[in-house]
Amino acid sequence: MALLDKHSVIEKNATLLLIFSFAVVTVGGIVEIAPLFYLENTIEKVEGVRPYTPLELTGRDIYVREGCYVCHSQMIRPMRDEVERYGHYSLAAESMYDHPFQWGSKRTGPDLARVGNRYSDAWHVDHLINPQSVVPESVMPKYGFLVDRMIEPEYIEDRLKTDALVGVPYTSEMIANAKADFAAQVDPDGDYEGLQERYDAKVNVRNFDGKPGISEMDALVAYLQVLGTMVDFSTFEPVASR
Ligand code: HEC
Repeated sequence: MALLDKHSVIEKNATLLLIFSFAVVTVGGIVEIAPLFYLENTIEKVEGVRPYTPLELTGRDIYVREGCYVCHSQMIRPMRDEVERYGHYSLAAESMYDHPFQWGSKRTGPDLARVGNRYSDAWHVDHLINPQSVVPESVMPKYGFLVDRMIEPEYIEDRLKTDALVGVPYTSEMIANAKADFAAQVDPDGDYEGLQERYDAKVNVRNFDGKPGISEMDALVAYLQVLGTMVDFSTFEPVASR
């Protein structure tokens, strides 16, 4: 009973109650959060995951600007129906260089985490210009204007530097070559060896929209075509099962 009597003191004094509640929440919070700072790896490193090329990163910015995430998620949950429809469930490492991540919580359209390489570039361009031309019942808006909006990669070095600042491993070489790499990715007849050396031999080098010049459509399709393709799932094994 003595203990309960003392408790009534706290219950009757609002300030005291507030101080003690704060102390309890603080301790609880520290216990939950502090260990995360000392873990070597909260995200399992996975082979193949690389920073986006300058063109892909630009496409990603367009994706964010146009609000594609309002209708599309990029997170395949580890449940059978999702895996059967979209492919291997999403790994944390696959979005480790995403700032901000595009996991999303709304699926008016399908999940896009593994849409890369699923359709041809021409399909994407046709679909973005007029979704109803390829999927008649689609409620997706038209994005044809992207074809006519040309991009000068004026700020691309700064863009890479900004991501480097928050931990994306862009090297000084990648930053110095950002403008060249940006242009190289849409020119299969040009010199794109450096680009593939810096990023990955699998980097798609194509004229994505099939038109001269580098348009926002090129960048967006380059981004869509790399989604979910960095990890080779024929050889991937989760740490837990090794
Ligand atoms: C108003 C909601 C909405 C918005 C905004 C939207 N979409 Fe869609 N999207 C859909 C719907 C619905 C579908 C399924 C029908 C279809 O294929 O058109 C779809 C399908 C797609 C597909 C085909 C996916 C597959 O696996 O078949 C891609 C790729 C896509 N959208 C990309 C985009 C991009 C890129 C943007 C932003 C520029 C965008 N969407 C904006 C609703 C939306």
